[in-house]
Amino acid sequence: METRVALRQTASVRSFTGDAVPNSVVYSILDDARFAPSGGNRQPWRVAVVKDTTVRRDLAAAMKPVWNEYIALAQTGRTPFAVVDGAPPLTTAAADVPFPLLDDIASVPVVLAVAADLSRIATMDGQLSRPPISGGGSIYPFCWSILLAARDRGLGGVMTTFATRAEPITGPLLGLPSGHALVATIFLGNVDKHVTKLRRNPVESFATTDRFDGSPLTSGA
Ligand SMILES: Cc1cc2nc3c(=O)[nH]c(=O)nc-3n(C[C@H](O)[C@H](O)[C@H](O)COP(=O)(O)O)c2cc1C
Repeated sequence: METRVALRQTASVRSFTGDAVPNSVVYSILDDARFAPSGGNRQPWRVAVVKDTTVRRDLAAAMKPVWNEYIALAQTGRTPFAVVDGAPPLTTAAADVPFPLLDDIASVPVVLAVAADLSRIATMDGQLSRPPISGGGSIYPFCWSILLAARDRGLGGVMTTFATRAEPITGPLLGLPSGHALVATIFLGNVDKHVTKLRRNPVESFATTDRFDGSPLTSGA
């Protein structure tokens, strides 16, 4: 697949055909994704390919309340779970909102739990007074490479972080080693039709010249 097409047309896919994805394909996707960059090339990733139906259902049961909370918070118009100026916490329990990806997790062709070994991540902003973010840069490119590698094979998928918020429950379910963080659960499978038009903001809305308060970058000379 052409790189630019892959970059511009890899959408999030949350429903799949019933076709199984062979182990050899999952292996080859991870074999491509391992070339992702990471700080100091320390490659902090660990992946559990979750096949056991009971583990999957237990995972989904832990993730579902996070989804319900996310939806309820999103209705405020502010970003759910944002550490800066986010949606205010709920005052009542969130209603159950159907989500086939989790409700039917047993039928999802591939479920990958991705963890990061925190001892291999240089958190460059760990000493600042704001919440650190740079460490994620050593693991999320790997997750994105999984999705691109899957797309190159005609598959679709989505990266989710529900299980991360529920790590006190999902970590032990998955045998998460100490000193590791559960960073994503990635779902993959065959799709009927790929979405090719993604909604994204234009360059002028986020790129400026010289400083972040500079003039919007344009494509002109
Ligand atoms: C770090 C990260 C976390 C995400 N977490 C979730 C999630 O928990 N659940 C979910 O359904 N999608 C999740 N997504 C997928 C986003 O919702 C998706 O990338 C975004 O809405 C754009 O969708 P599109 O590519 O189909 O346009 C996540 C994506 C990223 C990069």
